[in-house]
Amino acid sequence: MARPTTVHVCSECGHSSVRWHGQCPGCDAWNTLVEERAPVTGAGRGRDRGGAGGVAGKGVRAGTPTRLADVSTERVPRLLTAIGELDRVLGGGLVPGSLVLLGGSPGIGKSTLTNMALGNLAAAGRRTLYVSGEESAAQIRLRAQRLIGATSGALDVPVLAETDLDTILATLRAERPEVVVIDSVQTMHAADLTGAPGSVGQVRETAARIMQVAKADGIAVLLVGHVTKEGSLAGPRVLEHLVDCVLQFEGERERTYRTLRALKNRFGSTNEAGVFEMRSGGLVEVLDASARFVAEATGKPGSVILAAMEGSRPLLVEVQALVSPSELVPPRRVVNGLDRNRLALVLAVLGRHAGIGAGSADVFVNVVGGVRVEEPGADLAIALAVASAARGVPLQAGGARRPVACFGELGLTGELRTVGHADRRAAEAAKFGLRHVISPESAPTLRDALRAVLSARAPQAA
Ligand SMILES: Nc1ncnc2c1ncn2[C@@H]1O[C@H](COP(=O)(O)OP(=O)(O)OP(=O)(O)O)[C@@H](O)[C@H]1O
Ligand SMILES: [Mg+2]
Repeated sequence: MARPTTVHVCSECGHSSVRWHGQCPGCDAWNTLVEERAPVTGAGRGRDRGGAGGVAGKGVRAGTPTRLADVSTERVPRLLTAIGELDRVLGGGLVPGSLVLLGGSPGIGKSTLTNMALGNLAAAGRRTLYVSGEESAAQIRLRAQRLIGATSGALDVPVLAETDLDTILATLRAERPEVVVIDSVQTMHAADLTGAPGSVGQVRETAARIMQVAKADGIAVLLVGHVTKEGSLAGPRVLEHLVDCVLQFEGERERTYRTLRALKNRFGSTNEAGVFEMRSGGLVEVLDASARFVAEATGKPGSVILAAMEGSRPLLVEVQALVSPSELVPPRRVVNGLDRNRLALVLAVLGRHAGIGAGSADVFVNVVGGVRVEEPGADLAIALAVASAARGVPLQAGGARRPVACFGELGLTGELRTVGHADRRAAEAAKFGLRHVISPESAPTLRDALRAVLSARAPQAA
């Protein structure tokens, strides 16, 4: 009988078995067996993974470590996609031979972004290849036509509609592109594994083998990956360790704005974020996001401008709150674009230290435009928006007509805590005519902050 070519290895205890089991026979964990190619050494290796100790003695030569100062580093120029926001998030363009994982929920614009990047690279004379396992060549062409206004090289990109991994690797070796997009890693299929495309084993194998070719030939690879309902890149984060850079494209599909963030970057900062808008001609970089959000801000009760940081850039966004009586027990606490736990914390501090209790009312808090703000500096904006909504009075500072801007972290004892880049946040607010900025510098406690902006009806002591 032919020896099976794959084994199923438990990701918890390392037990290997020829057949798949729902429960690992080794450690009784559920759903931990992942298919892998069987080791070629075959006989006797069996369960004893990593127990290849016997080999070391026989004719294996030791490597020669090099002092770091003696390691030669030719400066490989980065490949610029000419999409400013993407290049910035990448840390200055694509690094030849690197693997970038681009994750995002369905329909967010992953294919559009990668098509545009390849189009620009093709226009700059780079050899590119777009491998799609999801769409036919005709569908890709239709999208490229849509992008033609934004990307002159969109139609010059060679495409390969293929899901078979071996064919793709052979094509890479034959065509030797400088940049390749694999859209998506979950649709690719290694024929020697029996698992379905998208299974952990398949995804890992696909990425690992593409990486070998990429490193050997210096190809920059953009792997497109889908994000599961739980928000992790499918293939339970198996790829995040393997790749050099993990980019997350997020935003809500029905909203206009999408942000691109680096979750991991071996060649640059993970503090960068880019803002895009989906238009009929493709994704457009939003360079003046602050201006728009400020212009659109209502200044009504429940509205406040948050001077947030998107990576190393300040960004002004409008935070809105609605407090409405509820029959529900417990009442609703709905938050969009912010951390739900921070809302719970802010409501508790508002009730305890400022006498503004949401009690049994429903509380909704929303960052306008589908932007996500994940930093403690948003606390004060949540607090001011909720306080203003609960009181039904607009926030005003010094009788100013313009919306009030704020930032700051809320401590559990009601104090406001300093957050990073205070000067840049204040400068951004000033740039857009918001002269009154409530911050830990101007108001040491939440009570002081509320007094400054709800002066007409200052909150009473708790
Ligand atoms: N003519 C158009 N005008 C404006 N937006 C459009 C137009 N055509 C498509 N879109 C937008 O492009 C989005 C799809 O983009 P794209 O195919 O790049 O997403 P994706 O992330 O690759 O999706 P998938 O997960 O299905 O591969 C749609 O959600 C839609 O909002
Ligand atoms: Mg797509």
